[in-house]
Amino acid sequence: VSAVSAQRAGAAVGVPVAELETPALVVDLDVLERNLARVASYADEHGLALYPHAKTHKTVEIARKQLDAGAGGLTVAKSEEAAIFARELGVPLVLHYPIVGAEKVERGAEIAGEVPLTVAVDSLEAAEPLAAGLRRRGVVAEALVELDVGLGRTGVATPEDAVELAAGIDALEGGLSLAGLSVYPGHLRHGGSADPGAGIGRVGERLTETIERFDRAGLRRERVSGGSTATLFASHRTPVTEIRPGNYALLDRAEGRGDFTLADCALRVQATVVSTSLPGRFVIDAGAKTLSDAAPPAGLDGYGFIVGRDDLALAALSEEHGHGEALAGAAGVEVGDRLEVVPNHACTCVNLHDRIYGARGGVVEVEMPVIARGMVR
Ligand SMILES: Cc1ncc(COP(=O)(O)O)c(C=O)c1O
Repeated sequence: VSAVSAQRAGAAVGVPVAELETPALVVDLDVLERNLARVASYADEHGLALYPHAKTHKTVEIARKQLDAGAGGLTVAKSEEAAIFARELGVPLVLHYPIVGAEKVERGAEIAGEVPLTVAVDSLEAAEPLAAGLRRRGVVAEALVELDVGLGRTGVATPEDAVELAAGIDALEGGLSLAGLSVYPGHLRHGGSADPGAGIGRVGERLTETIERFDRAGLRRERVSGGSTATLFASHRTPVTEIRPGNYALLDRAEGRGDFTLADCALRVQATVVSTSLPGRFVIDAGAKTLSDAAPPAGLDGYGFIVGRDDLALAALSEEHGHGEALAGAAGVEVGDRLEVVPNHACTCVNLHDRIYGARGGVVEVEMPVIARGMVR
């Protein structure tokens, strides 16, 4: 296979990873499948429904593997992502992002006509027009009231506010059907002083209090959704009935620690050293437009792990240059050397690429178009 023909869709199948033109985004399928199986078995063991967040990989192929491993559906952030996964896979979707604006309402209602749709809601201002749009099409979506548990992003501020919003949704004349609650404990991360699992106790207390208030008010709450990658294996210590981890499929420098390790990081960027002109420095062909310029995760420096080369650091990125530094006593780096990089953040890295090569045993088995890339509406 010539370098040029490898650019055509499907032409890289059967090509050794070491011979792919760089930069190239490669997922080790054995590692990916191990991650999916591990989390599916945890969810199964604790009776938790699993709705993996598809924004991490944005591919139909990896979503299908998650569903085959036991996921009940997928989570998405954007209505366009929901439309793509509804069309391609026809599975239940959790659209976990405020649906605001006439186009989003129309798209949401259309999707609800195709697959069972659940939406996270944190305001009546968004819920009312959405419910009206759903009614106009004669369809229904389940609503989860989102409660902020510390991230400070979306979600109502207090259990009292959650009850008030839930009652408001219940009082709507159809379209939205109240099903329960949702939280995203995205403030609990690795790299601080505490293990993220330690903060989950407070999340659990907050949820329990809210559930009790729902019960006293006679509000439905058979679904309680939560679960991030950093807190994944502590999910059963909170009263959730379903989890929505995203990053766990691919993992990265930020999340490949704690319960996961670097060996679990399925996503790697194949790169080539293109310059060593300055002493102690080198440049690879993967910069911010390849790796994404996600900031160094808490407690770490730099823009990626260079696999198997503890003597090298990726100190900075420009758009198309990864600025490497040879640490004291480093073995040499030469123009043309290939390096493998685990990016800081898998989700933003994937979103920069048209395709991911899925490899097994170092040989490309499948090309996976990043079909939901750019689906930000
Ligand atoms: C609402 C929501 N749920 C679930 C997830 C998945 O989190 P993680 O990738 O940490 O597993 C995210 C990620 O940003 C999210 O925003």
